[in-house]
Amino acid sequence: MSENRQLRLGTILHGASGNMSAWRHPAAQADASINFDFVTQTALKAEAGKLDFIFVADGLYINEKSIPHFLNRFEPLTVLSALAAITRRLGLVGTLSTSYSEPFTTARQFASLDHLSQGRAGWNVVTSPLEGSAKNFSRAQHPDHALRYRIADEYLQVVKGLWDSWEEDAFVRNKETGQFFDKNKLHTLDHHGDFFKVAGPLNIARTPQGRPIIFQAGASDDGKKLAARHADAIFTHQDSLAEAQAFYRDVKSQLAAYQRSPDQLHIFQGVSVIVGDDAEDAERQYQTTAALVSIEDALNYLGRYFEHHDFSQYPLDEPFPDIGDLGQNSFRSTTDEIKRHARERGLTLRQVALEAASPRPRFTGTASDVADGLQLWFEQHAADGFIIQGGTPETFPRFVDEVVPLLQARGLFRRDYPGTTLRESLGLALPANQIPKIIKENHAMQKTTLLLAVALAFSASSWGQDVKINGTGVSLEANKTPIHTAKNPQAIALLPQDLHLAVPGKFTVAVAALNSPPLTVFADDNKTLLGSEADIARLVAESLGLEVNVVPTSWEDWPLGVTSGKYDAAISNITVTKERKEKFDFATYRKDSLGFYVKSTSPLSKIDKAEDIAGLKIIVGSGTNQEAILLAWNAENVKKGLKPFIPVYTKDDAAQTLALQTGRADAFFGPNVIGAWKAALTGKTKLVGSVDGGWPKAAHIAVTLKKDSGLVNAVQAALNGAIASGDYAKVLNRWGEGVESIPQSEINPPGLGD
Ligand SMILES: Cc1cc2nc3c(=O)[nH]c(=O)nc-3n(C[C@H](O)[C@H](O)[C@H](O)COP(=O)(O)O)c2cc1C
Repeated sequence: MSENRQLRLGTILHGASGNMSAWRHPAAQADASINFDFVTQTALKAEAGKLDFIFVADGLYINEKSIPHFLNRFEPLTVLSALAAITRRLGLVGTLSTSYSEPFTTARQFASLDHLSQGRAGWNVVTSPLEGSAKNFSRAQHPDHALRYRIADEYLQVVKGLWDSWEEDAFVRNKETGQFFDKNKLHTLDHHGDFFKVAGPLNIARTPQGRPIIFQAGASDDGKKLAARHADAIFTHQDSLAEAQAFYRDVKSQLAAYQRSPDQLHIFQGVSVIVGDDAEDAERQYQTTAALVSIEDALNYLGRYFEHHDFSQYPLDEPFPDIGDLGQNSFRSTTDEIKRHARERGLTLRQVALEAASPRPRFTGTASDVADGLQLWFEQHAADGFIIQGGTPETFPRFVDEVVPLLQARGLFRRDYPGTTLRESLGLALPANQIPKIIKENHAMQKTTLLLAVALAFSASSWGQDVKINGTGVSLEANKTPIHTAKNPQAIALLPQDLHLAVPGKFTVAVAALNSPPLTVFADDNKTLLGSEADIARLVAESLGLEVNVVPTSWEDWPLGVTSGKYDAAISNITVTKERKEKFDFATYRKDSLGFYVKSTSPLSKIDKAEDIAGLKIIVGSGTNQEAILLAWNAENVKKGLKPFIPVYTKDDAAQTLALQTGRADAFFGPNVIGAWKAALTGKTKLVGSVDGGWPKAAHIAVTLKKDSGLVNAVQAALNGAIASGDYAKVLNRWGEGVESIPQSEINPPGLGD
């Protein structure tokens, strides 16, 4: 194998296995979908083969044309809970719809499964394709495709937020003192969104996996976006290697927009396999199983994808009929594919229906042939793993007994479970508690939180007070007055001819609205953002002859906002990184220097390399480069057998101060100027080490623009003009950031990861 990637394997419960009529097969368990002995045998076989997980699909509407094993089947979470008691290492992944359930219940059920199974729960997030589902849930209408995905996005934010209600060690249960839990470790979500209003907290502790593993099934553009933002794994199905590779590239490339790396989302291809003694034997097995499907069954099967459309009305041996947009609101990605294949290959209705109902397995032949196929797809980056479905009722045990050992012998698949949880099996990192972010995104809550933060961080007198940072006196009161700069004709000349601004006449800039002076601080109205970032935005805008439009946003929001054109730029202490350069253009404006700050009375005197962080609790921004550096150091430490560090995520400046002063955190790691500001303002913290933002190399903070938008040259010229005129120095100096000034702006210089 050329790389250190490990192939992942799961299996799916699918009736008797094989096609919709396989229950008639001589070797089949005809009632497999409701037979717990059969389910147990399958799960134990999967565990004997060291498979990562067993997967349970689901649906919420049936009628007499439904697939037989859909007519009578176990509810996923119930059967998985039973399996939790029988298995020890196998992951347990169940499907649950975001369109027909409540986030509180879902969060609670999967958290329970994670506790019951000691860290093996996974949730396959679906939006429910079938229109009829509405009729089972007292709804007048099935939400349309786009709406379903908007609901799903908010739903996932809520569920993840609820899962973060309690920190790991929140329940102290001290019999002597009578303290059951630590109040500081309880976080209440208080979500008020477009679709859900959920107070929280969840009535179950943080789960063994931090949170259950999130799968997503849905391959439309909206589905892929949802997965890129939220999921740990995707369950998908593509017919050819080239299509699977394109899907793989597409999804992986979308992760950067959410500050995620490609290895944080595994792509599983659902594949059907047949293992035979030789190719003829495999073909005979296929034909025997395929022959069980009547053309009537096949038409019904096909119809289900298209909102149970009645295909029996069309001639069977003529080209696949023109059915317009049918299918768009249900299994969109699947129906698009079916129509495309029919058109491109000139298939008749009979062929389309039989292919859909009894598809020829993707990988068939001897065990070695099947292993070769899986290896090829894996190594050619068409999949990170596979969800195996037996192409006949006899296949799965043969797959485990004959194919898995070959994959192990080839070094593709591990020989044992690496740990006890599904997360460990999948090689995914333990997630940090994200609730502060959720709170930030929650509009109703945001106001009160920020008001509180400002009140705590800046007592009335501190607004009038001068703060000495890096040797410079800084007056917040004086800094409320904007620094203006003149139009820069050279920069204006570099603006693209067909310039499309988010708001005509304005330079719209996303600035992460953390109350983190000197970079960002809210003015008295709690709306206007001040700070050096807003000042830089104004310098650039005015140099370009535009009005500045600073939009306070969350850190998570800028990547998508910039790519989609909602913002013309982001100025948010964004470090240039190799990965980000694939999606964005950068014009630098400040050196990136990071600092470790501890309580002034702390015995810690130096933190500036990997081993210094072992065993420490460190406040760090989630999804930031600072976090990436700590994680990289932590990985080095763990390899050496040193204690891991514990990230502490806080919602704002006030919470950080509190965490440091109460000992909930040992240190703060973040932009040096923010730490310097706080140390100067309160005298309660001290600097114990600095690190370059591009560790191990130097790095820069830059104005971030959509890649190839044509704006980067003009922005660079604007910054260089402001540097030459002295306005840039005025801005940095008045915020105490002069030590981080640069002699000139560069476009896309080397950064973190280069
Ligand atoms: C491979 C795959 C597996 C799916 N499994 C389920 C399932 O078990 N239950 C369900 O209700 N929907 C399932 N879906 C449907 C999706 O969740 C989604 O509702 C529907 O496909 C429309 O989304 P799309 O157009 O993004 O694919 C699955 C979709 C795909 C592509």
